[in-house]
Amino acid sequence: MRVIRSWTPMHLAQLTLDWIDERIGLRGLITASLHVTIPRSAHTYYLGGITLFFFMSQAVTGILLSLYYRASPESAYDSVLFIMNQVNFGWLIRSVHAWGANLMIVFCILHMLRVVVQGAYKAPREVTWLAGIALLFVTLGFGFTGYLLPWDQRAYWATTVGTEIPGAVPFIGSFLRDLMRGGADVSAVTLTRFFGIHMLVLPASLAGVLMAHLFIIHQQGLADPKEDETKGAAK
Ligand code: HEM
Repeated sequence: MRVIRSWTPMHLAQLTLDWIDERIGLRGLITASLHVTIPRSAHTYYLGGITLFFFMSQAVTGILLSLYYRASPESAYDSVLFIMNQVNFGWLIRSVHAWGANLMIVFCILHMLRVVVQGAYKAPREVTWLAGIALLFVTLGFGFTGYLLPWDQRAYWATTVGTEIPGAVPFIGSFLRDLMRGGADVSAVTLTRFFGIHMLVLPASLAGVLMAHLFIIHQQGLADPKEDETKGAAK
């Protein structure tokens, strides 16, 4: 236990961390989870990190937007107008969220291309790759469900067309379409459904799969294009 001579907020934070560390060994866990060896030749390995940054930014701006957004056909559009015109920095938070959504998809795809080009999906990283595919679908799901939320003409018709596409699947098409819409047409039920998926189901899924993705990367280390891993055990 260290001796504290003055009670500044910094020292109080130190004391609190020490207290927790003595009980659950927090420092060792943090140090171990931050220690990933990056190969010297890695010039494009930041793309996954940028995608992760956009996810965190989306989570923060999304929570802020949810404080004012109201998910019903009568009030959704008005609440978005309220965010844009009345809420302090609401226009900024909404714009960061909308641009961040697009950029997250762009960087996720760039990250995936880097993995493909370097062959980093090969053994022993197949599970990381499969978790990545799940992350890509969840990321696209965020974009699809979020697009309906402003409940304007563009949102309504984009979702009508978007949910019509799985409707073309043989045999189960109409079932899938009605399941997504919560009925035959895009309606209040669709809005509630998409809002719930956007705010709860997808964030929880992404957080869970991402933890697995990062845990495996941490265990295996990143692929080194200059090293032939098939000759020896994974790092
Ligand atoms: C939300 C989306 C995603 C996030 C936040 C994310 C995050 C990361 C991070 C931080 C790394 C380590 C640094 C790096 O290689 O850039 C990584 C590695 C990796 N990611 Fe992702 N990722 C995502 C989506 C994907 C997708 C769509 C794929 C492929 C389908 C994928 C496959 C991989 C693989 C195979 C590795 C290991 C690469 C290596 O060992 O060199 N990830 N990911």
